[in-house]
Amino acid sequence: MAFTMLEKTDYTTADISNGKEKYLTYCLSCHGDLGYGDGIAAASLPEKPSNIYKGLTSPFEFESELYSTVMNGNEGMPAWGAVLSADDIRDIFGYIIDVNNI
Ligand code: HEC
Repeated sequence: MAFTMLEKTDYTTADISNGKEKYLTYCLSCHGDLGYGDGIAAASLPEKPSNIYKGLTSPFEFESELYSTVMNGNEGMPAWGAVLSADDIRDIFGYIIDVNNI
């Protein structure tokens, strides 16, 4: 994959605001305000949504795998490949990092 965690410093304000808009629209209900997996819909799901922030900041997770999960889905996680572009997903990850660093 072309991008890694180190590229998070490359995010522009426009990237972050795109990521925020997409995250609030498509991801917030399950993954919660900060991406911890505690959204309002989470309690009713058979599979607990993952902590995206933890995934993004873990040395044991590859961002390419997280990206692939978002594109293709996994267990309780819907696939977003038809809705979001690669850049959108990258921006969402940037937003999650950003919102946790405030
Ligand atoms: C219907 C609820 C739901 C929605 C909406 C949702 N997710 Fe998920 N997500 C899940 C569940 C449940 C899992 C755990 C799946 C598993 O364990 O395999 C998950 C897993 C993930 C993972 C994998 C994390 C890891 O550590 O492996 C990422 C990344 C992720 N979601 C990002 C997103 C993004 C970005 C969006 C919005 C575009 C989104 N999710 C929308 C329920 C949801």
